[in-house]
Amino acid sequence: MAKRVAVGNNKGGVGKTTTVVRLAEALAKRGCRVLVVDLDPQGNASRRLGWTFDKDAPQLTISEAIRADEPGAAAQVIQPIGWEVEYADRIALCPARLELENRMSEAGVVGAHRRLAKALDGADGHFDYTLIDCPPSLFHLTQLGMAAADVAVAVTSPEYDAVEAAIRYRDFIANRAADLSNPGLELVGVVVNGLQAQLGSHAFQRDGLRETFGPLVWDPIVPRRSVVFDVDESALPLADFKADKAPEVRAVYELLAERFVKAVPAE
Ligand SMILES: Nc1ncnc2c1ncn2[C@@H]1O[C@H](COP(=O)(O)OP(=O)(O)OP(=O)(O)O)[C@@H](O)[C@H]1O
Ligand SMILES: [Mg+2]
Repeated sequence: MAKRVAVGNNKGGVGKTTTVVRLAEALAKRGCRVLVVDLDPQGNASRRLGWTFDKDAPQLTISEAIRADEPGAAAQVIQPIGWEVEYADRIALCPARLELENRMSEAGVVGAHRRLAKALDGADGHFDYTLIDCPPSLFHLTQLGMAAADVAVAVTSPEYDAVEAAIRYRDFIANRAADLSNPGLELVGVVVNGLQAQLGSHAFQRDGLRETFGPLVWDPIVPRRSVVFDVDESALPLADFKADKAPEVRAVYELLAERFVKAVPAE
């Protein structure tokens, strides 16, 4: 059984997708089989993993798997990613496109919050991890991710609004997991991303995060580095990237993957 991990925050642009993509890469490098579920109609994880939509032979996406309301429906939409490194075949993708927005209208339908869980049941058993990249909201799409997940991880930048939004994500899980038919769901980690340690405000928020979340804050903290932005822009794995800071950033994500595996042991 894959361990399913919902990655979220109620704030946009804090590095949720970056974390999902780089953790998927680092976990695959360690030998894990990882399914990335892109649950954001922006489709950023899909693009950054090198997936492209073929309008002449349109691929199915996670939207169709959710709409199907059938156990195992996600199996029909799992696809290879577009990277060429040798470990890329250990990563697979349920891609997303803007069409995923249409699933929002199902929010009021009885049992709709369980549709992703249903779609994944029987479809992701051959992976070690299913990483679910949630949009920056706590509404229906994120709730689909929470209902499907075994555990939740927050990603935040060390900035006031992002930290508050991570707290809202944590509290929403604590207060609503049972309503989402997933009473055991718990926040097991907080990834702090984009630290500029020379900024007093970042150092202040980093220390505050440790006070607020205690040992849930995972080390290492991911620094702000242009290479992180550049690999995302180029839709490439870090392995291929020839930039000054690439080895430093690779090492950070390898350590973060180690921390992840400790907090979320594969079965
Ligand atoms: N550590 C970092 N250093 C430099 N750039 C980063 C870092 N982390 C993320 N970025 C860049 O910041 C931007 C926002 O990151 P990302 O898209 O992953 O955030 P997000 O939380 O998924 O956003 P959204 O809420 O819109 O889905 C991207 O351009 C990404 O490449
Ligand atoms: Mg994102």
